[in-house]
Amino acid sequence: MRITEAGSMADNTVAESLLQRLQDGECGGLDSLELASALGVDHQQVVGAVKSLQSLGEIIEAEQRSSKRWELTPEGEEIAREGSHEARVFHSLPKEGMAQSQLMKLPIGKIGFSKAMSNRWIKLDKSADGGPRVFQAVDLVEDAVKEKLLLVLQGKEEGVNDKERSELKKRKLLNEVTIKTYWVTKGSGFSTSIAKQETDLTPEMIASGSWREKTFKAYNFNALGVMPECGHLHPLLKVRTQFRQIFLEMGFTEMPTNNFIESSFWNFDALFQPQQHPARDQHDTFFLQDPAFATEFPMEYLERVKKVHSEGGYGSQGYKYDWSIKEAQKNILRTHTTAVSARMLYKLAQQEEFTPVKYFSIDRVFRNETLDATHLAEFHQIEGVVADYGLTLGNLMGVLKEFFNKLGITKLRFKPAYNPYTEPSMEVFSYHEGLKKWVEVGNSGVFRPEMLLPMGLPEGVSVIAWGLSLERPTMIKYGINNIRELVGHKVNLQMVYDSPICLLDS
Ligand code: PHE
Repeated sequence: MRITEAGSMADNTVAESLLQRLQDGECGGLDSLELASALGVDHQQVVGAVKSLQSLGEIIEAEQRSSKRWELTPEGEEIAREGSHEARVFHSLPKEGMAQSQLMKLPIGKIGFSKAMSNRWIKLDKSADGGPRVFQAVDLVEDAVKEKLLLVLQGKEEGVNDKERSELKKRKLLNEVTIKTYWVTKGSGFSTSIAKQETDLTPEMIASGSWREKTFKAYNFNALGVMPECGHLHPLLKVRTQFRQIFLEMGFTEMPTNNFIESSFWNFDALFQPQQHPARDQHDTFFLQDPAFATEFPMEYLERVKKVHSEGGYGSQGYKYDWSIKEAQKNILRTHTTAVSARMLYKLAQQEEFTPVKYFSIDRVFRNETLDATHLAEFHQIEGVVADYGLTLGNLMGVLKEFFNKLGITKLRFKPAYNPYTEPSMEVFSYHEGLKKWVEVGNSGVFRPEMLLPMGLPEGVSVIAWGLSLERPTMIKYGINNIRELVGHKVNLQMVYDSPICLLDS
């Protein structure tokens, strides 16, 4: 036996002695409580050893039992140490006796006196000089109470019969307690040596192959895990979720927007935006250096686009300039998600038969802007597109009204505007109750035939569309005045952690 500190045995030593006793014993098993008293350790220590052996797998089997046991109360423990009150009264009496009044002043006096009297260990001389006096009545006493309590303390309860036990209980010297014990037997993988179990599979073990010889500690799926640091959604993502929800409620399908890089062709030319348009300038658009040019285009469609720009067609006179494929090939960071709408509408036009569609997207776009409190070189654009036969400006206004109503924006005004790809075009304004003025909330229009017909969409199909930024409603909703507090390296993460969920219509 290895002893660590005075009287306490190391936990693994308890486990080892438990295994040794199982090995040596002819009996089928061991009781944890008996083992604790045999080893002279606390029962809890044996329970700990049983549990850790159990976690190693099949070494032992442990069955939980509950057993009743008698335990001394604090007063019972005092008596086991120092004797019963009556014995202490007896021993404190000198040959010549003691005045009863003096005896009663002792802490054990009262109870001890009456018990010792009824045991006839002492006698009282009421007519003594100076008041009643107490004398020993026998030469020797046997302190049965102390003896019985000691037996219980030593775990030899058999020495105390039921009558004595209930007498001691009545005197509040004993208590019956229920304790959970284990009945431990050998397990199917019994062994007296406990190999240290690995808790981690390390790269070194894999590289050397040593994992083959190791035993691994089983997962404890009942253990409570460490709470992970929680992730937080950025306000832009919360607002995006709400917009997405609105589009889905209105029956729109999300477009694939997973390409920040786009050719000028899809971003501008397909949208009937002339090649000398100022938006296609270095000052407004980011151009890619490598790869600087895109090479794959649907060539027949590209030819039709070239024609409508340079010569016109479909009832349009075009722009009458030399359309250059080199200009269309230039790779850029897309300046709007309308490039994605163009791709999707072209794809739709390739269908055998036209079907009406409602598309939306919410993703990032890039512009070579002068940065200020409300402008960054990149932002998120929300875009909605509806294609069907005979759609009019009235349909566009109706869809916009429904869409903005769902955002909680009910007062709308439309202002004529210009986009190269829509005719008519309208800027959308809403009355801002907080700012007490009309603010621009979006841009919209009906796509031009010069854009739709070269794609191959049937005559009579019209496409209404609108776009807005995600940042502006987010800033309004979260009361952020400077966009740098919302996006970029100056963002205070605490703002992200603390921002509540977004409910747009309230
Ligand atoms: N593409 C436009 C913009 O970037 C928004 C828009 C989309 C306008 C669709 C009309 C139709 O501002």
